[in-house]
Amino acid sequence: IPVDPFDLVVIGGTGDLARRKILPALYRRFCAGQMPEGAQVIGAARTEMDDAGYRDFVGAALDEYAQPAGCAERARFLDMLGYVTLDALGDQGWSDLAARLDEGRVRAFYFSVGPALFGPLAERLQRHGMAGADTRIVVEKPFGRDLASARALNTDLARYFTEGQIYRIDHYLGKETVQNLMAIRFGNMLFEPLWNSQYVDHIQITVAETIGVDGRGEYYERAGAMRDMVQNHLMQLLCLIAMEPPAKFDPDAVRDEKLKVIRALDPVKPDDVVRGQYLADGGRPGFREHVGNAESTTESFIALKARISNWRWAGTPFYLRTGKRLRARTSEIAVVFKDTPHSIFGPEAGQHRNILTIRLQPNEGIDLGVTIKEPGPGGMRLVDVPLDMTFAQALGPEAEDVPDAYERLIMDVIRGNQTLFMRGDEVEAAWAWTDPIIAGWTEGAGAPLPYDTGSAGPDEALALMHRDGRAWREIR
Ligand code: BG6
Repeated sequence: IPVDPFDLVVIGGTGDLARRKILPALYRRFCAGQMPEGAQVIGAARTEMDDAGYRDFVGAALDEYAQPAGCAERARFLDMLGYVTLDALGDQGWSDLAARLDEGRVRAFYFSVGPALFGPLAERLQRHGMAGADTRIVVEKPFGRDLASARALNTDLARYFTEGQIYRIDHYLGKETVQNLMAIRFGNMLFEPLWNSQYVDHIQITVAETIGVDGRGEYYERAGAMRDMVQNHLMQLLCLIAMEPPAKFDPDAVRDEKLKVIRALDPVKPDDVVRGQYLADGGRPGFREHVGNAESTTESFIALKARISNWRWAGTPFYLRTGKRLRARTSEIAVVFKDTPHSIFGPEAGQHRNILTIRLQPNEGIDLGVTIKEPGPGGMRLVDVPLDMTFAQALGPEAEDVPDAYERLIMDVIRGNQTLFMRGDEVEAAWAWTDPIIAGWTEGAGAPLPYDTGSAGPDEALALMHRDGRAWREIR
């Protein structure tokens, strides 16, 4: 859907996120014909630079990060860019910036900077007359580091902007397959009647990465996997899997339902959490070297068992795990159904379970494990086979070029659609659940356990499920 011309200001426009994600995403939208004539993208940062310098800078970023390489009219895209030298905490640049913006069109300010600057930036936008009703602000994670700091950020922003103007990004919500979770659940009659503790034994959510924390050691040492991944990305996946059907696909209806899930989460017992740290491996530094702290107690891996105390889910545990330097880069959600109540084929047929796996990345698709008869004359032997669908194959070649999450999310900001953004109360509720878990280990519940690069995390994470008579799916 085409959008009207807009002004987008990327504060922190020379930073890593701008180079890697925001600008390549805008370029790809441009190539897809979605950036209207007259739209303006202004980079703003402390570095002294002029428009031409910024165009060169962005050109280099596109060479490195825009995949596939893009389209023929790259020069026209670069012409849409401008640059203002801006002091986030001082006065320099603010009136220049104001003078560049057009009246009467959507203007969005992307705060691609640390949370300490959110409040000061919001205040300056207002002081310089840029906080009117057409203004939207986009803020990146981390949105605070606990409930108190998240509340303080919400309060700061609320002084200058209404909730309807604030777009809190969780880029997982922009992933195509994450949106597909809602399509699968609420666009089919097949799954929803079974989507409860009567039929679902448990749910597993895995976000495994092969990368380490190289280059982000300083941030990561203070965050750890719980704050970096669980409080936001895994929590959002859990919400979309567990929420009640919203009455319609509209921002508040969806976010109300997600919030109810977070509020229904039980506190997690210390015994139900396993933390890990990756070791050095064949010359590659380990976690402690990456964060520059030989005694670091920050986790690069976490597995935990969560419970949702509501009518639908009481009795069905949700097992979550995520980590760096694991065996493979794979993110999936597995809904493991219960055993049939009675086997008419006798004990030799064995117990079989249906498992619905939603593959978020790579190889996006869904796979439903069903039980059929093993071919041959040897009696009624059962075997599990996959009903496997890769979206790209099912939908044809166009679907192979999956848009990056940021493409979708930035255009949603321009369109004014907040469905895929976190509301303030949602973020706070997520921290309210996370804080006591973190307090559990900072109060001495033990250091993270070491694990090898290329493994599935510490063995204790396997034990977390084994003791419940269950097993993680393989990471591969
Ligand atoms: C980010 C985290 O939010 O998400 C990173 O800060 C992590 O640590 C990344 O690597 C994972 O995102 P994706 O899109 O590669 O799964």
